[in-house]
Amino acid sequence: MSADLPDVRQTRLDNYVDRYAARTKGMTASEIRALFSVASRPEVVSLAGGMPNIAGLPLDVVGSAVRDLVVDNGAVAMQYGSGQGDPRLRDQICDVMRLEGIEAHPDDVVVTVGSQQAVDLVTRVFCDPGDVVICEAPSYVGALGVFRAYQCEVVHVAMDDDGVQPEALEQAIQDVRAAGKKIKFFYTIPNFHNPAGVSLSAERRHKVLEICARADLLVLEDNPYGLLGFEGDPYRALRADNREGVIYLGSFSKTFAPGFRVGWAVAPHAVREKLVLAQESATLCPPVFSQLAVSSYLSRHDWLGQVKQFQEMYRERRDAMLAALAEKMPAATTWTRPGGGFYVWLTLPESLDAKAMLPRAVTARVAYVPGTAFFADGFGSQCMRLSYCHPTPERITEGVARLAAVINEELELRQTFGPLKPGAGRDYDAPGPELS
Ligand SMILES: Cc1ncc(COP(=O)(O)O)c(C=O)c1O
Repeated sequence: MSADLPDVRQTRLDNYVDRYAARTKGMTASEIRALFSVASRPEVVSLAGGMPNIAGLPLDVVGSAVRDLVVDNGAVAMQYGSGQGDPRLRDQICDVMRLEGIEAHPDDVVVTVGSQQAVDLVTRVFCDPGDVVICEAPSYVGALGVFRAYQCEVVHVAMDDDGVQPEALEQAIQDVRAAGKKIKFFYTIPNFHNPAGVSLSAERRHKVLEICARADLLVLEDNPYGLLGFEGDPYRALRADNREGVIYLGSFSKTFAPGFRVGWAVAPHAVREKLVLAQESATLCPPVFSQLAVSSYLSRHDWLGQVKQFQEMYRERRDAMLAALAEKMPAATTWTRPGGGFYVWLTLPESLDAKAMLPRAVTARVAYVPGTAFFADGFGSQCMRLSYCHPTPERITEGVARLAAVINEELELRQTFGPLKPGAGRDYDAPGPELS
């Protein structure tokens, strides 16, 4: 073996395993990840990945904005900045949020490294090990990873086509408190949910706010997809109707580009101060270069026109997926009908297990994310998330046809050999861009 190549035999075992903090226990990559390396091959139609489709971005506009930024303002752009984020960008963020009914002052905004970091900072500020976070069932895999890393207990609350069920939320709050546990917040994705593909109805928004206010429970409103609706005006944010009880998280990852890693939190004043301190201890400040680039893009470009183009592009893909599902899926398969965003949540006929079926699907050259990835408690084995954001409409149609064939074969197998044993168990997975 050459002297400068590492000896693979020595890198195989983890010599540090008994030294890691307890919080790293859940930080593992599951076997789903190994399958995803196969799923990224060109012959596989991946309905798994949730990365934004930025092929339509005007790179010449972005390029000239970045160039001017370096030439005209490089000494500022490449310096440390404020822990709370650039004041001009915070002002522009307030304009963005006004589209969803939020009246905020730039002082209320904390810029973060994507909204992912905002989830992390809020959890860091509020949660001790053992504290409960209430989440929808299913919920965003990246947030579940954060809650696990801070050793929180996640309690899931049922959803339907109108979003989280208010009665189930109220019951969960009562049950957790009756068990003597502390709930720190209710984490919700009200618009074009990842992974469920549904939105909280206007009527339920009021009910959810009422229930949480009555229970004196903070709401963590995570809203990266709110401007990517396919019909009508954006939904009114929960934060628009309750400034003290809601922490709102936003992001430029889906409306512009995730590569800049710019997101934000808007919080009640006292919480905002804690978030800035947490941000300073995590990163000193969010990257100034990224913030100024985003700020320049917003001011020099018709960014809302670009968002409209994204909406059209995603709508076409959503339509292709829904049409293919209606045409190809066997009876007793159900799915959600998203009004925006990237995802459809599909429920298989009763005897099937999406995780067990995945290797067979990948062999048939189609990939999805099994539902268990979106639950902290092992549920979701009968479900899967299908993303329509990336493949072309033709590839989506082909991918759904392949998936339907796999499901039909699996149904035949189950009819011959009987159902699989229940209890697929927990499916912990570190959050990663391919799962996002
Ligand atoms: C619901 C939800 N929240 C947060 C994020 C993180 O987004 P970012 O950190 O890129 O802003 C994602 C990304 O997919 C998401 O789907």
